Amino acid sequence: MAYDNILFTVDGGVATLTFNRPKALNAMNSATMAELSDAVSHCRKDDAVKVLVLTGAGEKAFVAGADISQMQDLRPQEALAFMEAGQETLRQIETLPKPVIAAVNGYALGGGAEIALACDIRFASEKAVFGQPEILIGLIPGWGGTQRLPRIIGMGRAKELILGGAQIDAKRAYEIGLVNRILPPEQLMEETLKFARKLAEMPGFALKMAKHAVNYGYDLALDNACRLEVECCAQCFSTDDQKEGMKAFLEKRKPAFKGK
Ligand code: CAA
Repeated sequence: MAYDNILFTVDGGVATLTFNRPKALNAMNSATMAELSDAVSHCRKDDAVKVLVLTGAGEKAFVAGADISQMQDLRPQEALAFMEAGQETLRQIETLPKPVIAAVNGYALGGGAEIALACDIRFASEKAVFGQPEILIGLIPGWGGTQRLPRIIGMGRAKELILGGAQIDAKRAYEIGLVNRILPPEQLMEETLKFARKLAEMPGFALKMAKHAVNYGYDLALDNACRLEVECCAQCFSTDDQKEGMKAFLEKRKPAFKGK
């Protein structure tokens, strides 16, 4: 698929996907969503991709939400299809068996915040702004915000943002656990890619099992969740990387992981 609305590159195990409609503050229309979905599918299939980084083009925005001009006149059934397509794509990101990092360079509002929430880790520029302002245009979040936000920052804080529609800065987002790190704008990509490259060198199967256990265990009763964890942990013993990791530790040398 040719991409008109995103930029997509792969370098040294790290795929970087840049939302690229800066004139509309990278707002997500259906075409951009379809390209995002295609690129994430590619990341799933391509063994050369170990980690995916999402960011926004331009100085101002990560993604300023779903495209309001496209949504304005939708009938309920069309709105359902638009929201479902977004939800499916964000679920693809969340369940990608590889780490996904959001490098939030500016506005992450509405659907943009929801894309960041579907990622495993969020790094933010000091200029980043987060919010679920859907209520201000007679809507509620439709790409998982009502569900993922409370899971990440807690019910009360999530309701404050979703019901009140206010924007918060990167400092506040960090205080409430919405972002993992705040970085000066000029260091955001450099530091994100440094971390991504570090993850790209980790044993891939163990990364996959770690993400799987956290994601799928989260909503289970503790007994079942711990059972899931033990099985994921045991499966790591089927890999050469586990043998190499432990051997290298005992021989006091750096492991040479092969992703097998
Ligand atoms: N959809 C469509 N176009 C958008 C957009 C969006 N979500 N956000 C910004 N734009 C467009 C503006 O219409 C404007 O276009 P023109 O130059 O053609 O007029 C351009 O981007 C620049 O935006 P502004 O002039 O508004 O820039 P600003 O600096 O004054 O304000 C902003 C920036 C605070 C982010 C403001 O643009 C804004 O509030 N955007 C909308 C945010 C929003 O409500 N997002 C939620 C959408 S609903 C949703 O996402 C549903 C869901 O859960 C899936």
